Amino acid sequence: MSSLFAPFELKGMSLRNRFMRSATFEGAGEPNGEVSSLQMQMYRDLAAGEVGLIVSGVVCVNEAGRLFASQNCLGSDAAIPGLSRLTQTVHDQGGKVASQLFHSGREASSFQGYRGLGPSVTEDPRRPNLEYDAMTHEDIVRTVEAFGDAAGRAKEAGCDAVQMHGAHAYIFAQFLSPYTNKRQDQWGGSLENRTRLHREVLKAIRKRVGEDYPVMIKLGVRDGFDGGLTLEDGLEAARMLAEAGYDCLEISQGLRGTQPHETEFRTKLKRSEDRGYFCGWAEEVKKRVRVPVATVGGIRDLDMAEAVVQKGQADLVSMSRPLISEPGLIARWRKGDRQEARCVSCNTCKHDLEAMKSISCVLDRKKAK
Ligand SMILES: Cc1cc2nc3c(=O)[nH]c(=O)nc-3n(C[C@H](O)[C@H](O)[C@H](O)COP(=O)(O)O)c2cc1C
Repeated sequence: MSSLFAPFELKGMSLRNRFMRSATFEGAGEPNGEVSSLQMQMYRDLAAGEVGLIVSGVVCVNEAGRLFASQNCLGSDAAIPGLSRLTQTVHDQGGKVASQLFHSGREASSFQGYRGLGPSVTEDPRRPNLEYDAMTHEDIVRTVEAFGDAAGRAKEAGCDAVQMHGAHAYIFAQFLSPYTNKRQDQWGGSLENRTRLHREVLKAIRKRVGEDYPVMIKLGVRDGFDGGLTLEDGLEAARMLAEAGYDCLEISQGLRGTQPHETEFRTKLKRSEDRGYFCGWAEEVKKRVRVPVATVGGIRDLDMAEAVVQKGQADLVSMSRPLISEPGLIARWRKGDRQEARCVSCNTCKHDLEAMKSISCVLDRKKAK
């Protein structure tokens, strides 16, 4: 049997295999952000489907960082009982779960009266409708503390790890990118300064959870357009963050461009050369760090998953859309059915979120008709 199905140790966390469910916001929380019965069902199915580590969808660390109404929030102790039920459900099925800690930064929705807060206010033709303010030093310190407190609550609720959302469009990516971060103080300018938020958050988390608890980051190592974060800087940032003490790096896109191929949600992945589209970046990160590296983005078949690990491009194989379509995919592969994932990367699941609906796979809807 493939070595992907052998147990894997990540900072003392024993995973039953090397497969991760990459963070996937389901749009399925209660209207007030509490864990819902639909979420319980989704996580139970993923754990029963033998996913090694399930990373939650974005969980905001406070209300200022919220993006969606139905998003779970770890901004207060009130969230602990609901999250505890969810972690117990995953553990009952032999799975492990990490909470993805998130702050939307300048992208915050205005639906509840919060204005976004970004590193600095810049003209951005890619996001012309964003209205937000530049963070003061005090805003940043408060945000750092909020990440620390949220991680403490995640641990108390039984999460096996936490993962910072340091990719795509949100606060860490905004600080890391010279395109959105024009600050001239200790939080901007040099790469050292543009990764300070990432390191200060890690320190605040360690104070709450201790040295032995796995703290991971999903890191965007290149922006999806020219003029933003370069790959060279992104790879150096990855090295710095591993050295600072992050226990696992999942490698993805930095700030999004406007075209699908400039985002993490690439489509039309029929040809094998279009798949695994961030594996090359993960491989480059792996050469520079000693902690486990996960690759995500367009992995649809077991041959590719095996090759990625065999070639030393990554230690863990992470997927999102295929597991929306087939939560039992990993168990199916383990049992010997090597047929590729049925996901066609159409992004209808993502469009569900944009329409404020909970996600499901369009192939199931067609079948139901
Ligand atoms: C519906 C949907 C929700 C997502 N939510 C998150 C999220 O909460 N956090 C995150 O880091 N990435 C999120 N992503 C991105 C995925 O984790 C993943 O990086 C991307 O879809 C590429 O992987 P895939 O080809 O296996 O789907 C989401 C993707 C989809 C389709």
